[in-house]
Amino acid sequence: MSNLVVVGTQWGDEGKGKLVDILAEFADMVVRFQGGANAGHTLIVDGKQLITHLVPSGILHPTKRCAIGPAVVVDPETLVEEIDAISQRGIQVSPDVLVISHRAHLVMPYHRLLDAAREAARGSKKIGTTLRGIGPCLEDKAARTGIRLSDLLDSEVLAERLSVKLPEVNALLSHYGRDTVQAEDILPRLAELSACLAPYVGDVGEVVRQEMDRGKNVLFEGAQGTLLDIDHGTYPFVTSSSTSAGAVCPLVGFGPKRVDGVVGVAKAYTTRVGAGPFPTELKDELGDKLREAGGEYGATTGRSRRCGWLDLVALRYTAAINGLTSLCITKLDVLSGINPIRIGVGYKLAGQELTSPPANIRDFSRVEPIYEEFEGWEEDLGEGRTKADLPLQARRYVECLEHLLNLPVDIISVGAGRAETIMVQNPYNRY
Ligand code: GDP
Ligand code: IMO
Ligand code: MG
Repeated sequence: MSNLVVVGTQWGDEGKGKLVDILAEFADMVVRFQGGANAGHTLIVDGKQLITHLVPSGILHPTKRCAIGPAVVVDPETLVEEIDAISQRGIQVSPDVLVISHRAHLVMPYHRLLDAAREAARGSKKIGTTLRGIGPCLEDKAARTGIRLSDLLDSEVLAERLSVKLPEVNALLSHYGRDTVQAEDILPRLAELSACLAPYVGDVGEVVRQEMDRGKNVLFEGAQGTLLDIDHGTYPFVTSSSTSAGAVCPLVGFGPKRVDGVVGVAKAYTTRVGAGPFPTELKDELGDKLREAGGEYGATTGRSRRCGWLDLVALRYTAAINGLTSLCITKLDVLSGINPIRIGVGYKLAGQELTSPPANIRDFSRVEPIYEEFEGWEEDLGEGRTKADLPLQARRYVECLEHLLNLPVDIISVGAGRAETIMVQNPYNRY
């Protein structure tokens, strides 16, 4: 048995969904462990695209169980829509296949309103959130005024929790000049959503622990990226949750000795959506070329992603935070035709070399990357199925990353489809 965690090593959108779909074949259960519908994970199988926001990316494997863990913030409206959309494609999403934690906090309509009101009030200083209500929902969780799925299923508890919460929410909404929210505006729809979700609700922590005890392979699906982590990321330009691999233990509810491997997903270059420092960003035609070649438009919001070179200072930092055991490099195909290719290998701040990202956000915005250059390649990589199929320069690029990060690259992704993958080593065979 082995339990693996998949995490993003950059600012999200590294291709975690694609990797989870591939590794799900070798797992018994796939568990989304944090974040919410701010995530958008793209799966392309047999030319058909599915974007998951809350449902685990193992859902295309009919015999695998999927779970949404206790620390995922669940927007019931989005989840019901997502389950319907997947079912309409002929994929069974029954309660036998999907279980949702009764402890999960709910993203309520007023969380979205507050997210939007705050971002608007920040003007040019906005974070560039996904406007999915994630920050306000997680604030309520910490303030102990949140509403959990188990509360949704109990109309008395729900009404009482709302009676405590709404006056505070409405004071804030009024402060931002927005319309207020009354319990009677939202309760009827919440009752409908409660009826839709009730059959799926269960004790995910307990189910996962049982699966582990029975020697099953559990695959944990991360969301966002480590540079968006509330503690370790580019604060305040981060999300509001712990996005790194170690968080999986307290967030799902099992001990740290049970994780066997951590696969970090990194794009062969870097992208970021939203505001905040990005030292290796390319604000020129080359950045536009990467955006077009890589289809770098957000899976959740459709926003165009900022693009730049790979940043090894950031990657070394996130590899250490996550305790990565191997890497999956995605979108290597996108670098075809770019020559030379650069990699940021260090930062300079006021003439001094830094070996890790500075905590001070102003410093982080001012660092200048130190680059190394690599010879590029012209060939399309999409047909490659083994490492030997890759042009020499592409192989060198990957091997150089392995060397500089002191980590093996287990998987190389050369296209968006499930099949466009080079499995150098199956991470499940490492344990
Ligand atoms: P996630 O949030 O980490 O799951 O990543 P997203 O799905 O938001 O963004 C990754 C995008 O890149 C999606 O459009 C994927 O279909 C696409 N993608 C993933 N791997 C590859 C790859 O190797 N090559 C190309 N060209 N596209 C890829
Ligand atoms: P996946 O799982 C990329 C970013 C937002 C914004 C910041 C805060 O698809 O990789 P939030 O709505 O969380 O309060 O926004 O975090 N962000 C993501 N960027 N991919 C994601 O998820 C993201 N989830 C949040 O763009 O900068
Ligand atoms: Mg995404």
